[in-house]
Amino acid sequence: MSIKELINAINSISPDNIKPIEMQSEGEIEELIDALNRLLIALQKKTTEATKNLEDKNFTFYAINYATKLIGSTLEMKELLDIAINMLLEIAEMEKGSIMLVNKDISELMVEVIKDFDEIKDPSKKIDTHEEFLTRIIKEGKPFFSNETEKFQDLGDGLGANVKSVLSIPLMGKEEIIGVVNLYNHLTNKELTHDDLNIISILTSQIAVSIENARLFSQIKQFFFNTVKALASTIDAKDPYTYGHSERVAQYSLAIAEELGCSLKEKEDIQLAAMLHDIGKIGLPDEILHKPSGLTDEEFEEIKRHPLKGSKILEHIKELTAIIPGMRHHHERFEGGGYPDKLKGEDIPLIAKIISVADAYDAMTSDRSYRTSLGSDEAIKRIKDCAGTQFDPKIVNIFVNLFEKDNREL
Ligand SMILES: [Fe+2]
Repeated sequence: MSIKELINAINSISPDNIKPIEMQSEGEIEELIDALNRLLIALQKKTTEATKNLEDKNFTFYAINYATKLIGSTLEMKELLDIAINMLLEIAEMEKGSIMLVNKDISELMVEVIKDFDEIKDPSKKIDTHEEFLTRIIKEGKPFFSNETEKFQDLGDGLGANVKSVLSIPLMGKEEIIGVVNLYNHLTNKELTHDDLNIISILTSQIAVSIENARLFSQIKQFFFNTVKALASTIDAKDPYTYGHSERVAQYSLAIAEELGCSLKEKEDIQLAAMLHDIGKIGLPDEILHKPSGLTDEEFEEIKRHPLKGSKILEHIKELTAIIPGMRHHHERFEGGGYPDKLKGEDIPLIAKIISVADAYDAMTSDRSYRTSLGSDEAIKRIKDCAGTQFDPKIVNIFVNLFEKDNREL
C-alpha cells in the first residue's frame, strides 16, 4: 500500500478528524509505516475471527432449527427416540448412547432405546432409579460430563463397560424430569465447550417436549381404539355366538399385515377396519341376524347390504376414510361375483382381501347357532381350497404359513 493510498483510506474513514502531520525526524516515516502495517495485520486477524464467529453462529442456528424440525416431525414414540439418539450422538460427537424414560406408575427408569456400533436396539429394560448416579442427575436436573468413568461403569443400559467419557443429560418435561439421555465416548480430542452443552441442552428440551406430545398422542389414539372396540362389541353382542368376533378378526388381520411388511399406519387402518367390518349389521333385525338357517332371498339381500350400510355410517368421519374400503369390500370374491360391487382380483383393495380371509377363519372356528366350530385344521383346509376363487391366493398363502409356522390356534 502506498502512503497516498493510506491517506485516502484514512480520509475515507474520518475525514473531519485529519490534522496536519508534522515530520520531526527522517526515520519517522518508516516507523509510521511499520506501526500501520502492524495495525493492518491485527485488524485483518480480528475481521477473520469475527467472520468465523458469525459463520459458526449461523451454522448453529441452522443446525438447531433443522434438528428442532426433525424432532417435531413425528408423534410416534419409537421413531422419535431413534431420531433423538442419532441426532444427539452426531451433535455431541460421541460414539454410543441410550435414552431412559421415567415410568411414572412405578417410579423407575426404562431404557427405551440404545444405539451401539451404529445399531439401534429396542431394549425396554427397567432400571432401579435408586442407582446413586441417576438419582443425582434426576434430582439436580443438570447435565453431567465425566472422564472418570470407573465410577459409573454401568448406568443400566449395558453400554458402560470400558468407556472413556460419559455425558448424561436430564430430559426436562413441562413439570418434572421425564428421563435421562446418556452419551458415551467422545470421538474427537476436542473438549466439549460451554456452547456445545448449551446446544445439547436446547435440543434435549425440545426432545422432552416431543416425548410428552408423543405420549399424549398415544393416549388419544388408545382412547380412539378403545372407542372403536366398544362400538364393534355392540355388533358382536347382538349375537352370543359372535362374542369377540371383531377383535379376533382384527388380531388375525394384523398378523397378516405384519407378514406383508405394512407400515404402522397401514397396520392401524387394517386393525380398525377389521374391528368395524360388520358395523353395518347394527340396523339388522335380530330375527334375521339370529336365524339359524333357511333365510329367505329377501332376508339374504338385507344381510348383503351390511358392507354398504357400514360404509355409510362411517363415511363422514375423516379419520376413518382409509378404512372404508375394508368395510365395503370384505365380501367381494377374488374370482368376482361377491358383493356389493362384484369386484375381481387386484381391483379388490388389499385391506378387504385381508379381512375376508381373517373373517372366514374366525367364522369357521367359532360355534354358531346352526353348527359347532369346524376346528382350525378344517378351517385352514377350506380356506386353502378357496384360494383363487373366494380369496386372494397370496393372502391365503401368508395366512396358512403363519398358522403352520407357529403351529398354533391363530
Ligand atoms: Fe361381514
